[in-house]
Parts: sequence; C-alpha cells; structure tokens
Amino acid sequence: MKFLGLNDFQFKDQRVLLRLDLNAPIKDGAVTNDERLIRSLPTINHILNNEGKLIVISHLGRPKENGELQPDFSLSPVVKRLEQLLNRSINLITDINNIPSIQTGEMIILENVRFLEGEKSNDPELSKKLANIADIFVMDAFATSHREHSSTTGVIGFSEKACAGFLLEEEINALSKLTLKNKGGSLAVLGGAKISTKLDLINSLCDKMDTVILGGGIANTCLLAQGFPVGDSLVEESMLKEALELSKKSNVIIPRIVVTAKNQQKEGSIKHVDHVEEDESIFDIAPESFKEHQDIFDAAKTILWNGPMGLFEESAFSGGTVQVAKMIVSSKGFSVAGGGDTISAASKAGVLDKLDYVSTAGGAFLEFIEGRKLPSLEALQLKLVK
Ligand code: 3PG
Repeated sequence: MKFLGLNDFQFKDQRVLLRLDLNAPIKDGAVTNDERLIRSLPTINHILNNEGKLIVISHLGRPKENGELQPDFSLSPVVKRLEQLLNRSINLITDINNIPSIQTGEMIILENVRFLEGEKSNDPELSKKLANIADIFVMDAFATSHREHSSTTGVIGFSEKACAGFLLEEEINALSKLTLKNKGGSLAVLGGAKISTKLDLINSLCDKMDTVILGGGIANTCLLAQGFPVGDSLVEESMLKEALELSKKSNVIIPRIVVTAKNQQKEGSIKHVDHVEEDESIFDIAPESFKEHQDIFDAAKTILWNGPMGLFEESAFSGGTVQVAKMIVSSKGFSVAGGGDTISAASKAGVLDKLDYVSTAGGAFLEFIEGRKLPSLEALQLKLVK
C-alpha cells in the first residue's frame, strides 16, 4: 500500500489541515490515556519544524451531529494535554467559518469535527469546506480510517495536495506484516466477549495464519457449540452454528482448562471444561492451557494479539490474559497487539512496552487485519495515482 508522505511536500508557509485521532478517554475534564496524543506528536512536530501553519482536526466520542458545541465532547481536555506535551499554547477554535490567520510555525485546533453537520454522511459541501481551509491535507488518523466521513475521506478528494502522516504509515507497515500470507510460524491469539463481532476477522485469520488460539466469550461459545457444559458463562446462543464450524478448523485451538466461579466476586477454581457446573461461569482460561502450547509460541515468527482471554479487569480472572501476554513477548516472533481492550490488557499484564508494535486503532485495526478496504486509505491511494 503506497501513499504520498510528509517527505513529498514542502510545508514552509503552507496552511496544513491535519486529521488526527485524538479520541482519548476523558474523566473529570482530563485525558486519562494520552497514547494517541503521544503517537501523533512526530507528525505535528514535523509540520511545525518545517514552518507550516498547522490546523488540527479530530473527533472525540460520538456527539450529536447538530452544529452545536456539546461541552462533554469538547476537545478542550485534549488541547490542555497537548499543550503540556508540546510545551506551547494552542488555540481551540469553535467556529469553522471563522478560522483566524495563523503564523508560520503556529498551531491551532478546531473543535470536535463530529459537531459539524454532514461529517458522518461524508457530505460533499462539508468535505469541500474542509479542503478549502488549507493548502495541504495530512491524514494521520489511522484509527478512524475505516470511517467514510468528511474529515477522513471526503476531504481528501477535494484537496489539491493530500498525504499520509507518519503514524498512519507506521501502522500500515507494522500491520501489513500480519496480513500477508503468513504461513510458516504465524500465530493469532484472539479473545473478547462476542464471536458475532469478530467472526469475519477470525475466519480470515484462520486462512492466513498457521494457528489461531481463541479465548474469552468467543471460546465459551465454541465450547458450548462443541457440546461442553459451560454453565452460566457468557455465550452467544445465536452463533452456535458458526462457532461449531470454527471449532472444526484444524488450525483453531480452543483451550479446555478454564477458571470458573459462581460469581465475579468469588475466587476462581481451575478445572477441565467437562466439569463446569450449571451454576458456574467460565471467567478465564487457565494459564496451563497456554503453557501446553509453548512450542507454538517458540516457533512463531509473527504473532497477532487481539482481546483479553477472560474477565481480566478482576485480578482473580486475569491469569490467562497475563500468561498469554508473557508468552507473546517472550517469543522471538514479531508481535503486534491492537483493537478494543487489548491495550489495557497488555498494560495490566505489564507487557505494553515489550510488544514489537502496539496499534493505536480499535475498529480500524480489526478491519485492516481482516483485509477490508478502508475508505480513507483508498482515497489517499487515489491521490497517488493522480
Ligand atoms: C476509535 O476509537 O476506534 C476511533 O476513534 C473511531 O471512533 P468511532 O468508532 O466512534 O468512529
């Protein structure tokens, strides 16, 4: 996948519209995880150091798209944190129709693009308005590249010059190592609650990777489909047919030693899934279940990790996730983690900085790995052709 990049343009005295994904968790008016902000800094610094006039746009959460500023979704906490990280003051502009003139090397941020009517429907009028703000458009919001919105996709078509930022390129380079035919030492470890939201991803990974190990609610549904007793465990009854088909694939491993309890407050007991009682739930995969596959982790050349193996937020049920995380980072294989809860799981397991690559994306990570076309990346590629 090839795009024009930051090094293909001169930024001196140019107005640059930079789309970032600054959709960070906020509590009590403060950003609680600034990973996406930190990972956006190289592109911001490149444009500022090259004397561009920088206008940043991003969404935050899912506000009503009604043209009105909704304080709970304001980018203000993000701006505060960015001011600290960049050690400069940044103006937050609320009116897209009244953007002040910007000095060379200066940076401003526009309020949440999802306040703007037409953003999510990729309205051509809004896309055109965004494109007209600047001389160059830079797309660096990989985590939102699966959205066909005005600020991620439409704007690219209307911009005379458009290119990818450093983070977007980095994400694609790392994730592409997993999406190529990986036969010969490739492993995917997939957890999470629902099989329905990840079925296409799992099936696509079964075709691409040598081994796929399942955990979490996904594994519970497969175990039930195979006829094991799962008691009160989290399962998706409506997905039993699909789960059974998946379980039959020769390269899919569904661990059988599990951690059960009568409720989340109780200590867990380790047992074979054959012995799960009616009033118990499976809350985790037992570490032993992974240890018996040590050889697969040792031989892995590439490892993809998505989703926790159990109820990892509770210490009594985090053992499976911690074990698998440790085995992934101990392997010599190139490890990539991303999507949904994976980052918090990796952080809880203390392996976040030991993984070879951690994606900033959730949904976009899963769609990219699955091999779907991401609208924003398609639009950027078209720019290269032109
Ligand atoms: C994300 O957090 O996955 C991205 O910021 C996209 O957000 P969205 O799912 O609200 O489009």
